[in-house]
Amino acid sequence: MPFPPDFLWGAATSSYQIEGAVNEDGRGQSIWDTFSHTLGKVEHGDTGDVADDHYHRWADDVALMADLGLRAYRFSIAWPRLFPEGGTTLNERGLAFYDRLVDRLLERGIRPAATLFHWDLPQALQDRGGWVNRDTVEAFAHHANTCFEKLGDRVPIWITQNEPWVIAVLGYLRGIHAPGHENLQEMLDVSHHLLLSHGRAVQAYRSSGRNGQIGITLNLFATYPKTDTDADRAAVIGSDGYTNRRFLDPLFLGTYPDDTRAVFAAAGADALAAVRDGDLATIATPSDFLGVNYYNRRVVSASDEEFGWKVEPAADPGINTSDLGWEITPWGLYDLLTRLKRDYPPLPLYVTENGISLDDRIGPDGAVDDPRRIEYLRAHFEATERAIADGVDLRGYFVWSLLDNFEWAMGYGPRFGLVYVDYANDQRRIPKASAHWYADVIRSNGRG
Ligand code: FCB
Repeated sequence: MPFPPDFLWGAATSSYQIEGAVNEDGRGQSIWDTFSHTLGKVEHGDTGDVADDHYHRWADDVALMADLGLRAYRFSIAWPRLFPEGGTTLNERGLAFYDRLVDRLLERGIRPAATLFHWDLPQALQDRGGWVNRDTVEAFAHHANTCFEKLGDRVPIWITQNEPWVIAVLGYLRGIHAPGHENLQEMLDVSHHLLLSHGRAVQAYRSSGRNGQIGITLNLFATYPKTDTDADRAAVIGSDGYTNRRFLDPLFLGTYPDDTRAVFAAAGADALAAVRDGDLATIATPSDFLGVNYYNRRVVSASDEEFGWKVEPAADPGINTSDLGWEITPWGLYDLLTRLKRDYPPLPLYVTENGISLDDRIGPDGAVDDPRRIEYLRAHFEATERAIADGVDLRGYFVWSLLDNFEWAMGYGPRFGLVYVDYANDQRRIPKASAHWYADVIRSNGRG
């Protein structure tokens, strides 16, 4: 079995998606409160006001994790709970929630992996420009530093940013995530500031003297051409620059890719407009690992649209899909992990998210049977195992998600959880068949 004996089998969540309690204990407003309460932004008008009510049920949820035998739990710290106004005035009651959570995880032998920012920016910072404004980088460094100081003695794994591509592209270019802007130049400035904020947090962590691990999580796309033509192969290079290399290269090679910059220039924007002297060195401050979020592959073809290529809808009729219509392509994870090893300096990796949304239902016997989730996870674990056998230094795997939850602009329709949440019936938690199966996988370190 290639899974190393100390492999970190885990599950992941994020604050806005599960906590609820948006007005409790001094929490400030976040951009996702604003966005979800704006008519027409989220399916069915769903909001995170209550979500999974994890803020009150956290102790039961940790007990559930212990029953599953999770070795690690990835959660995020809501910035507006700690800094309601986004500045430097710490709200101790907000911090106390994470303090209790971390202590309980450790009591149950579960290693905490904390994400410093999973999209719920304090609205007060958005009012001053959000991630377009360089000052937000320093505000983030302060938030990060506070977390290291208060929780860093007990949290061994830190993730600075979650999916800068999604924040920048869906939030500032496509308008479908908070804050809902559609501006190419903003998208580029935000991408840079997110990377810079990662670098500043890594620097702060090093000077804090803590000796855990810190890294960033990227959503990376394994990208393939629609047809085997030169034009579609060029489309892959273009798309790869847009989604992957413009994050990976500055982080691990210290440069922004020229070809991608030229594509943005042709669209009238400057990818380097926000870059100042020294920024690239800050961004490339050595991390301890890279977190990879992977759900499906991407197929592209040459096109006159926008940046010279377009994404093909689920391209192959022979490939099964999730109930969101996302293709199930485990080999993409293998290709991605081995590509990182090939193209970038050696660095430990974690899969920080992987999972599938299904229309799960409670059966007549009260159980939730989700064989397609088991199949999905099994296939992705196998792909991972092959990558490890081929020399990829993968240290752990966090299934998205522990619980069904608020899936951003899609609201509560999609169900990604290992554990079913019965929102209408007192938020009852029902571990799905996949949760029981995953517990076996963990117990046997990958056999399942
Ligand atoms: C990722 C997000 C996570 C969740 C999954 C399905 O992009 O990081 O919060 O929404 O997708």
